[in-house]
Amino acid sequence: MEPVLSLRSWLAKVESFGELRHVKGADWDVELGAIAELSYRQPNPVALLFDDITGYDSGKRVLTGSTGSPRRLGHTLRLGDDLDDVGLVAALRGKPSQWAAAAADYPAETVTDSPLLENVIDGPDVNLLSLPVPRWHTGDGGRYIGTGCFVVTRDPEDGIVNGGCYRMEVQDEGRSATINAVPGKHGAQHIQRWFELHGKAPVVVSFGHDPILLITGGTEVPARISELDYAGAIIGEPVPVLIGEHTGLPIPAGSEVAIEGWLRRDHVRNEGPFGEWTGYYSGKRRPAPALEIVRMYHRDDPIQLGAPPGKPPHDYSYMRTVMKSAMIEDALVGAGVAGIRGAWAHESGGGRLFIAVSVENRYAGQAKQVGHLTAQLPAAAYMNRFVVVVDADVDPADLGEVVWAMSTRCDPVKDIDIIPGTWGSKLDPMLVEGAPPYNSRAVVDATRPFERKADFPAVSTGDPEYLQSVLHRWAEVFAP
Ligand SMILES: Cc1cc2nc3c(=O)[nH]c(=O)nc-3n(C[C@H](O)[C@H](O)[C@H](O)COP(=O)(O)O)c2cc1C
Repeated sequence: MEPVLSLRSWLAKVESFGELRHVKGADWDVELGAIAELSYRQPNPVALLFDDITGYDSGKRVLTGSTGSPRRLGHTLRLGDDLDDVGLVAALRGKPSQWAAAAADYPAETVTDSPLLENVIDGPDVNLLSLPVPRWHTGDGGRYIGTGCFVVTRDPEDGIVNGGCYRMEVQDEGRSATINAVPGKHGAQHIQRWFELHGKAPVVVSFGHDPILLITGGTEVPARISELDYAGAIIGEPVPVLIGEHTGLPIPAGSEVAIEGWLRRDHVRNEGPFGEWTGYYSGKRRPAPALEIVRMYHRDDPIQLGAPPGKPPHDYSYMRTVMKSAMIEDALVGAGVAGIRGAWAHESGGGRLFIAVSVENRYAGQAKQVGHLTAQLPAAAYMNRFVVVVDADVDPADLGEVVWAMSTRCDPVKDIDIIPGTWGSKLDPMLVEGAPPYNSRAVVDATRPFERKADFPAVSTGDPEYLQSVLHRWAEVFAP
């Protein structure tokens, strides 16, 4: 029987609803990534399972596009197996805060058996390049085994486990890999604290699993909640884990491939550049902590879960937009702000850079409150650049409507606030090489001025009820 969070069970389900395609014979060196990139641009992209990858035995596979459709995302989040876009967003409303609240009821459960133990390889014999690790984009500095990965760390003081998704480049001909967690991310904070207290940090990484771990590891689950427990709350049962003999850290028992090891402050390797979610390569090759791998585990014929970023739409941009939008809306409601109608973290801004929020705007100053709060929410603060607040009659997910509101309800001289010195990133193409990773952000109030709400010019579309009756009467004009 397959373990809980087995990628193979997930693949069987997705195949049953016709959203999996098998690709044989692609080269790990750029070609596989290029095929994946072309597929993201299709109207309803399927997931791709690559096998017979050049230079590797059959069975050593790579999956891409796992969360790129409403049906796959809805299935992965256990919200339903036949959801469309609208249905998914509706089903997700309110869920992130419910999952966060329920996580404590689903602590990860220790087990001693798992197919992951089919192959156990100790330090000196570890070779990550025994797997067909892709070089995803032409300009990448190396082969990235960590894209859809789940990096497990533990707070050295309170013991809380974190699971995060951070890019990892293979180093030292396969004996090591760098981990690139941005300062401020929970995993990066754990590692930093271990360095300060003990000089080294224990880490476990899973490279193939039910994509629920890509979603929970790759989006802003609140601090002090383990992503393993949060995933348990989503699936409605505890996540089974093996305990790493060397690090004592939990390893998802449903994993296809996992490693255990230690990061040390002075053990670094140059990594990058890498084609990132901003749509640009991430600057120069720079030092990053490299894992001293003490053990590798893998199933027979392991499957890597790939999730390469790039110019949107990319592998996980749909998932990020849908998840971040729900998390931001939830956080605003949870902060006690009245009249929130919706939030949307647009895909073309990588789900981070451009966020629109729609609000009823019930009192003078509310639009600014919502805008500034959104720009600094833990779910949104990293690498945001624009927040646009719109009235409740504007759909924040419709870029055309948002631009219309900005163009007609906003006086730039007083309705755009600029906040300097905010949480940016080395990935920012606007950052000058070597400068500290701040950015600035603009909070745009594109709501009707509160004091003019009553007499602001009326919107010149027909009355909805009247339009509906006309549509009915003139149906033949609109027949497809
Ligand atoms: C496929 C993928 C790759 C990612 N790569 C990185 C990365 O290299 N570095 C990073 O700091 N965050 C990266 N992220 C974003 C983090 O996973 C995300 O911010 C997450 O909330 C971090 O978890 P944490 O706050 O618990 O550390 C990536 C996300 C995804 C989905």
